[in-house]
Amino acid sequence: MRRMEKIAVLTSGGDSQGMNSAIRSVVRTGLAYGYEMIGIKRGYKGLIENDFITLGSKDVSDILYRGGTFLQSARSEEFKTEVGQNKAVNNLKNHEINHLIVIGGDGSYRGAQSLLKQGINTYGLPGTIDNDIPLTDYTIGFDTTLNVIQDAISNLRDTMSSHERVSVIEVMGRKCGDIALQAGIASGVDAVLIPEFGYDMKAVASQLTQGFERGKTHSIVMVAEGAGTAEEIAALIEQHSNLDTRPTVLGHIQRGGTPTAFDRLFTSRMGHKVIDLIHKGVTGVALGMEKNEITYHTFDEIVQSENEIDEKLYKMFHDLI
Ligand code: ADP
Ligand code: F6P
Repeated sequence: MRRMEKIAVLTSGGDSQGMNSAIRSVVRTGLAYGYEMIGIKRGYKGLIENDFITLGSKDVSDILYRGGTFLQSARSEEFKTEVGQNKAVNNLKNHEINHLIVIGGDGSYRGAQSLLKQGINTYGLPGTIDNDIPLTDYTIGFDTTLNVIQDAISNLRDTMSSHERVSVIEVMGRKCGDIALQAGIASGVDAVLIPEFGYDMKAVASQLTQGFERGKTHSIVMVAEGAGTAEEIAALIEQHSNLDTRPTVLGHIQRGGTPTAFDRLFTSRMGHKVIDLIHKGVTGVALGMEKNEITYHTFDEIVQSENEIDEKLYKMFHDLI
């Protein structure tokens, strides 16, 4: 009888809502296609430390609606070294694992690309809330994060209106302004400051002052962490106006919560597709969604591409305020 081929899955880098749903889809589809499924704990750290578990259908029950990742995630400096990568490759070979699915962000993709060059068949799913991966319209957890921010802003509005204040809210995204821009549009904020475009604080302060003069009872300014801190921006607004301002850093609250239906569906579709690609002999690719289709590109293509902010959306925001 032919031995079953093995597929392993790990989650790496910052966790994101929907990673669990992606693992569930990968495991259940893999089992349906006749593969043996292996989970690797704590990303590349567990890969180096040989922390492997066999996954059956029941092991991925009750995780679809949970944020985080039950396989847990980590960052590993050792994995970036030749010694670390050799340990990883040897562990995979000793377990006779033929395929490795990496759910993570661009750093994790670079890791997968290195393993690919050493003969491991690797695959990527875009697991990061930042929406900063090229050649996909969305990353896992981005939509849920927008919803978390939307709810937080709704709470801030209540207290800011009572005190006629300006709220400056700092959101995540590393060097990418997508979270700030898209959450800003969805929440109807008054200004969005993102690293991809410059801003003039005097002009922002003057626009906010005019808003209050027209009868507004509060203002919300959204700043992406790559463009400055809430504290700095709040101080600059007070320097250029007479407005009473309060900074809020939303922090890791943005990375939690039950994934939205969009993130559950998106990850279920990608998990299914990646197993199908493995079955068809495709290797060295990462998946994403473009124009509502699940698509894939080679790691080389993705790593060499620039992630671009949607300029039209940025312009549109300014027509809506
Ligand atoms: P993300 O995947 O969310 O971008 P990181 O950038 O922290 O998060 O990367 C996650 C892990 O991927 C790192 O801790 C490291 O083990 C691995 N990694 C990152 N960059 C590289 C690289 N250039 N080569 C090999 N491995 C890398
Ligand atoms: O990449 C996801 C992300 O949440 C970024 O938006 C943020 O800058 C970073 O991770 C925070 O990292 P940590 O979880 O190590 O604090």
